[in-house]
Amino acid sequence: MRLDKLLSQLGAATRSQCRELIKAGRVRVSGIVPRSGEEAVPPGAEITLDGKRLDTRLDRYVMLNKPKDVLTAAEDRRMRTVMDLLPPVYAALGCMPVGRLDRDTEGLLLLTTDGELGHRLLSPKRHVDKTYIARVEGWLDEEDRAAFAAGIQLKDFTALPAALEIIAPDMGRVTVREGKYHQVKRMFGARGKPVKELKRTAFGPLTLDESLRPGEWRELTEEECAALYAVAGMEHE
Ligand code: URA
Repeated sequence: MRLDKLLSQLGAATRSQCRELIKAGRVRVSGIVPRSGEEAVPPGAEITLDGKRLDTRLDRYVMLNKPKDVLTAAEDRRMRTVMDLLPPVYAALGCMPVGRLDRDTEGLLLLTTDGELGHRLLSPKRHVDKTYIARVEGWLDEEDRAAFAAGIQLKDFTALPAALEIIAPDMGRVTVREGKYHQVKRMFGARGKPVKELKRTAFGPLTLDESLRPGEWRELTEEECAALYAVAGMEHE
């Protein structure tokens, strides 16, 4: 890729500002001052701006512990979004949330620049598991567990069988294999036990890193990325 294009994609500045930075000799590619922004950057080259090394990865994979009262959206005029919790370079690179969590739901949210990966992970055909911990009004019992296992009838569809583990009288860990709008809340609601708090703890092969406090994030490890690509049925370079 051309140096000026790469720099602007990495969020260093606009394309024309990047050309100025290059002209001013502030950019080096593997230690050498390039002649112009048109030069192609060889794979694996180290790029520095004012002596500081840039992270040149164009593909990004992020695990965020989404806090309550933050929207799963790219932008919003009034409220903070999950993108506001990441450095601006992630938006510049086209990083997007994979699916959504409600405003009042917290926990694991995957964000990536790989749209195809995200699309496949969300495909209703793929049935990627998602695990949530729900605190409900009322007490959970064996009948709830059996109803979840049988597939709860909602207004417009019957949910696929879901595993419900009762971990406290008013708390359940549920794994669903689909991701319809407000699905988990609607499932508990259908049992007359509305959800008071909801947290996602797993998405496919990813488990929420409990060292991340709400609002904190980290890049996925190589192993986590490979596991996601395997679930999506894709090759990962
Ligand atoms: N199900 C819900 O009801 N809400 C979420 O945020 C996620 C799953």
